Amino acid sequence: MSFLTGRVLVIGLGLIGGSLARALRLRGTCKTVVGYDRDVDELETGLRLGVVDEIAFDLLAAVEQADLIVLAVPVKVMEFVLADIKPALRPDTIITDVGSVKGNVVRAAESLFGEVPERFIPGHPIAGLEKSGVAAADETLFEHHKVIITPLPHSDPEAVTLVSRMWQGVGAQVLRMDVERHDEVLAATSHLPHLLAFSLVDTLAQEQDCTDIFRYAAGGFRDFTRIAASDPTMWHDVGLANKQAILQKIDEFSNGLSRLRSAIESEDSREMLGIFTRAKASREHFTKILSGSAYTQNMTTTETTFFAQPGGKVQGSIRAPGDKSISHRSIMLGSLADGVTEVTGFLEGEDSLATLQAFRDMGVVIEGPHQGEVKIYGVGINGLQKPPRPIYVGNSGTTIRLMSGLLAGQSFDSELSGDDSLSKRPMERVAKPLRLMGAVVETGENGCPPVRIKGGQQLKAINYEMPMASAQVKSCVMLAGLYAEGETSVIEPAPTRDHTERMLRGFGYQVGVDKNKVSLSGGGSLSAAKIDVPADISSSTFFMVAAAICPDSDITLEHVGINPTRIGVINILRAMGSNLELLNEREVGGEPVADIRIRYAPLKGINIPEDQVPLAIDEFPALFIAAVCAEGETVLTGAEELRVKESDRIQAMVDGLKVLGADIEGTPDGAIIRGSEMGGGIIESHDDHRIAMSFTIAALRAKGAIEIRECANVATSFPNFVELAQQVGIQVRKEEK
Ligand code: S3P
Repeated sequence: MSFLTGRVLVIGLGLIGGSLARALRLRGTCKTVVGYDRDVDELETGLRLGVVDEIAFDLLAAVEQADLIVLAVPVKVMEFVLADIKPALRPDTIITDVGSVKGNVVRAAESLFGEVPERFIPGHPIAGLEKSGVAAADETLFEHHKVIITPLPHSDPEAVTLVSRMWQGVGAQVLRMDVERHDEVLAATSHLPHLLAFSLVDTLAQEQDCTDIFRYAAGGFRDFTRIAASDPTMWHDVGLANKQAILQKIDEFSNGLSRLRSAIESEDSREMLGIFTRAKASREHFTKILSGSAYTQNMTTTETTFFAQPGGKVQGSIRAPGDKSISHRSIMLGSLADGVTEVTGFLEGEDSLATLQAFRDMGVVIEGPHQGEVKIYGVGINGLQKPPRPIYVGNSGTTIRLMSGLLAGQSFDSELSGDDSLSKRPMERVAKPLRLMGAVVETGENGCPPVRIKGGQQLKAINYEMPMASAQVKSCVMLAGLYAEGETSVIEPAPTRDHTERMLRGFGYQVGVDKNKVSLSGGGSLSAAKIDVPADISSSTFFMVAAAICPDSDITLEHVGINPTRIGVINILRAMGSNLELLNEREVGGEPVADIRIRYAPLKGINIPEDQVPLAIDEFPALFIAAVCAEGETVLTGAEELRVKESDRIQAMVDGLKVLGADIEGTPDGAIIRGSEMGGGIIESHDDHRIAMSFTIAALRAKGAIEIRECANVATSFPNFVELAQQVGIQVRKEEK
């Protein structure tokens, strides 16, 4: 057996020291685990319970023989123990500690040794229990817990590695931090909450009728104050050892509490709701981060896999979630409006929630979403505040591009960033026109995110001829145009979705439309409106194609937005021979809406007219599946934009369809797809929601099962996709790891 090290001396056999000693022993990490404690009874109990191999009564002799020393004593005692062991320390012995404050240990070591010894690597396991003492030692205490180590610039790398491996060996995950950062973070996440719990219970306990308070105190009091039962001496020590960082956090908290106090005193509902909705959203966001959902920053996302069984048909009547493009815009314009905007049918997907969170970060009070309802307390066109940190937009291209325009006109600096997929997408297409307007915008490597915007620039109107057909670029320039001097206009090479124009008008802003040119003048204001978001035609497409390719299918998609700039998919499916009817056509809040009924009919291949491409830009992954199920050849050209979506959608579809055995060739600006049979296989969706959903419906006509990997981002646009798919008869299940 190869040991990590020879003799480990654990000084302090409490819960943490005892648990580590026992875990090292049972896992065979070192040759011998020696325990030392001032309390001889504890020490002997440790030996009796098999927590350590040996116990030491002579500290200096034990130190002299140790290869690794773990200081597991209370934080305030650390400096005295260091002084005690100093005379017997060998230069090659490695030392670490388990204190929950790091600055004081480092300072103690500095004053004792002149500088922190190279082989002293401070550490802090984030684990504990209400129990204490060696009898409570538990060798599983550190499993799946984090241990923060705080090496110094001159620390010996070999010692850092050994201490890390020791913790990993007992099942912990090791993170590195600076000493100061560690103490700041812990002051906020651990020390302040503990001190508040102590203070709250103590304050209430001093009231005369406190018995009643405690007797009738329900869940809230119990939840909030559980940690007030922690060890008083330990928290006394922590309070002093991390004094500066804790005082800073107490001051910040006191300011926050005073703001809430004045809001209640003056019955300022908006301020109160602002505090509560922001807190609730942050709390939920943290829960998501901890559970590793797709909308997380710098975290590995959950691995989500779809398993779709071959065959079946689709039947029934369903409503897809709200339109993503309209949902984004409702938050943006609602925030900039005067008055309260009420939204129904809002898409509670991660992309539109990223937009919502961004505006909360800029001081807008937003209630909801709750079952698609959102209430936005507009701050007026010049009412946004500087966000406290860079704005993280996850996977959402619409958020980053539209907000770049809007932020270019603000008085404050800002930065927008996103996930790995978004960080590879082109942003110069928005940065360029914004610079022409006088904005100061910087993009990252290769013109990709992050986008950094310098505020305080007076924008001037431009007349911009777009090099590509993009609604995001058009909308970005128009939103910047709200803040520009003069009349801004955008000329598009082909019609693209016009939700921004329509919604601006709905908010009372004048927008001129003349053939392929839209224009608006800066300096106006928006008035709050009611917005009913129709179901997203792009999400509905998966079910339209499902019914179109599968004999005996008959499905109705309710309340779908059929804005003329979005109905390429309807036109293309009809041209391929689909039996598709628009029922109950109506207009809702400035957007045309209909129920779409689609029944199976044999499809034939077509040359897709290029003028339909921008009108169906998000629907091609699903249309590729329709083309494989059609008789003859389908040719797509003029669609090079597909290469810069959430993935290179031409490549992703060509690769995936080839895995299934379909007859397809990619071209620089499209593909040639021949009607062919599909088998089963494993598909990589490249974290692209629409690729994942397209291959799910492909299974309806495949001869074998399809496993689709990297599906977490389906939650960006269609969180209940799998449930609705199952409801209409698609045999798919989701597995999350
Ligand atoms: C969108 C515009 C389109 C589309 C995207 C949403 C919008 O992007 O693909 O899903 O809401 O404006 P481009 O403008 O890049 O074509």
